[in-house]
Amino acid sequence: MYHTTIGKDLDQAKALLERGELVAIPTETVYGLAANGLNTAAITRIYEAKNRPQFNPLILHVANLEQAERLVMGMPDVCKRLMQLLSPGPITYLLPKSSLVPDMVTAGSARVAIRIPAHPMALALLGMLDFPLAAPSANPSGYVSPVSATHVLEGLQGEISYILDGGNCTIGLESTIVGFEEDKVVIHRLGGISAEQISAIAGVETTTSLAHASPTAPGQLRSHYATSIPLLIGDIAPLVNAFVGKKIGLLLFEQSAALAVEKEILLSPSGSLEEAAAGLFRAMRLLDQSDLDVIIAQRFPNTGIGRAINDRLERAAYKGD
Ligand code: TXA
Ligand code: MG
Repeated sequence: MYHTTIGKDLDQAKALLERGELVAIPTETVYGLAANGLNTAAITRIYEAKNRPQFNPLILHVANLEQAERLVMGMPDVCKRLMQLLSPGPITYLLPKSSLVPDMVTAGSARVAIRIPAHPMALALLGMLDFPLAAPSANPSGYVSPVSATHVLEGLQGEISYILDGGNCTIGLESTIVGFEEDKVVIHRLGGISAEQISAIAGVETTTSLAHASPTAPGQLRSHYATSIPLLIGDIAPLVNAFVGKKIGLLLFEQSAALAVEKEILLSPSGSLEEAAAGLFRAMRLLDQSDLDVIIAQRFPNTGIGRAINDRLERAAYKGD
């Protein structure tokens, strides 16, 4: 057991990480549970603290392209172009790993996931270290990802000694994960950067391969991001009708449902999908901490980052085969 503290001390975070300890770090997407990505004992502790299955690989975070290049064996031109234009940012690249990367990071895969986060505190910390940071989202495996230092504390108190506080995450959804096949960009997880943005920038076709059903594949586990209170996604009115007499919490995009329910959260009265994404996980946590029987979420417009929002809601709602 640790006494978990929250602070803004980069030197303390550096010292702990150099000793092989875990530190939660802010990024622009969600908070990460970081450890020295080249130290297998430190990596083991990440899996333990999160109670994460060992077959689910970890993203390595670096400060810049030069640090990334040491961890991979070559990069397709289209990847370099994406990196120049979108990194630092909410995008993760799957690339052939170099021998420097422990098998435990990739769960035995020949490809490693690399990301340059855009948060100034994360970048400053990475710049002070001579190793990459392996960091999954800083939540117990399966629960909603944290978008503030307090959220990290709620899930991991006693498991880690330090949480670096960088405020609220501005993107609020995990990074988009891309791989490369011939000249194509393959999206393995929808996230903070939309497929439309990637196509426009890369000037190439993107395809989507979300392999949630197969746990060894990049799309990871299907039941994920889940609240403790059952969550349903769909058309609001019929779902509310089906739960008459129950305590209902609603998660809505831009317009009130004007229905008699216990609690209602409107994610973006102005109709911005980016704003809705930034508030999504906080709202899911808030509803989960309310005295409710069921959470009913509206399906979002399936365009841009709305697709990533729907993906998270669907996986929060999924309760196994
Ligand atoms: O925005 C993000 O990506 C956040 C912040 C902290 O950077 N991180 C994050 O990590 O969401 P995590 O572990 O919660 O989700 C990353 C997913 C994993 O579920 C894993 O399946 C996939 O990325 N992944 C990691 N390494 C991989 C690899 N070598 N091959 C295929 N998929 C990989
Ligand atoms: Mg996660």
